[in-house]
Amino acid sequence: MKIKKAVFPAAGLGTRFLPATKALPKEMLALVDKPLIQYVVEEAVASDIPHIIIVTGRGKNAIEDHFDVSYELEKTLEKRGKTQMLSKVRAISDMIDVCYVRQKEALGLGHAILQVRHLIGDEPFAVFLGDDIIDSAVPCMKQMMDAYDRCHGAVLAIQEVEHRDVSSYGIVKVNSSDGRLHHIDDMVEKPSAASAPSNLAIIGRYILPPAIFDILEKTQPDINGEIQLTNGLKQLLREPGVYGYQFEGKRFDAGDKLGFLKATVEFALKNQDLGPAFKKYLSTLDLSIYQ
Ligand code: UTP
Repeated sequence: MKIKKAVFPAAGLGTRFLPATKALPKEMLALVDKPLIQYVVEEAVASDIPHIIIVTGRGKNAIEDHFDVSYELEKTLEKRGKTQMLSKVRAISDMIDVCYVRQKEALGLGHAILQVRHLIGDEPFAVFLGDDIIDSAVPCMKQMMDAYDRCHGAVLAIQEVEHRDVSSYGIVKVNSSDGRLHHIDDMVEKPSAASAPSNLAIIGRYILPPAIFDILEKTQPDINGEIQLTNGLKQLLREPGVYGYQFEGKRFDAGDKLGFLKATVEFALKNQDLGPAFKKYLSTLDLSIYQ
C-alpha cells in the first residue's frame, strides 16, 4: 500500500529551548533562513507524500501562518519588485495542502499521533519529527518507503550513535539484517550504556501501520502522564513486525541546543549565497580565547 499521508507532531512544549520557545513554537526556530518544520515538510513533499497533517497545540499559530498565503506581504514584495523573495514566499503556501489537528494538552508523542486517527483511516502513514533534520541525497523518508515496499511492517529510521549517548534514545535489538534494513526483535527506551542491546538509535521518522491506533488507545501513560510511542511500537514487534532502516545521510538533532548550532553552522556553510563569506568568517576566529 502506498504511503499517502504524513503526520508532523508539533505540539510539544519545547522546554529545552526556553525561554526562546515561550511564545515561539520550537518548530519555527530558523535554521539559516527556514523554520525547522519547513525542512521536514519539504522532505515529505520530496518523498511524494501528498497529504500533510500537522498536530499543533496552544501557542502554535505561527506554524499555520507560515504555511498560509500572506496576502499583505506578497503585495508589498510585488510593489517593491522583490520578485525572487516573492517567489520564495509563494512557494511555501503553494507547496502543500495541509490539515491541522489540535492536541489540547501535551500528553506525549503517542497521544499526539492518536489525534490524527480520524484522518488516517485504514492505511499505513508516515510520521516526521521536526527535531531531526536529515541532510541526504535521497530524502530519508523516500529511502524508508522503498524499504517498506520490501518488508510491509512498521519501519523506523535508525542510526548508530556513540555508546555514551544511548541513554538519550530508544535503542533497538536486531535479530537479522538485509543490507540497511534490520528486523527488530526488541527495543528499550533510554537504556544505560551497560544495558543497551546495541548502539542503534531510533530517529524521528516512522512508517506506521493503522494498528498502532488501537494499541495507543490502550497504552497506559507513563509517570509523567505521557503516552509514549515506543511503548506502543513494542506491541507491533510480532505482528506486522518492526524494521529499522539505517538511512543514508547526515542527521542533526535540532531539538537540542548543541545539535541546533551544529546544524546552523553546516547548513550556513552549504548555503550558496552565504557559504563562502561564512566560511571566511569562521576561519578568522581564534578559538583559543574561548574556554
Ligand atoms: P520532544 O520529546 O522533543 O518534546 O518531542 P518537546 O516538547 O518538543 O521538546 P522538549 O524535550 O521539551 O525540549 C518530540 C516530538 O513530539 C512532539 C514534539 O512537538 C516533537 O516534534 N510532541 C511531543 C507532541 O506533538 N506532543 C506531545 O505531547 C509531546
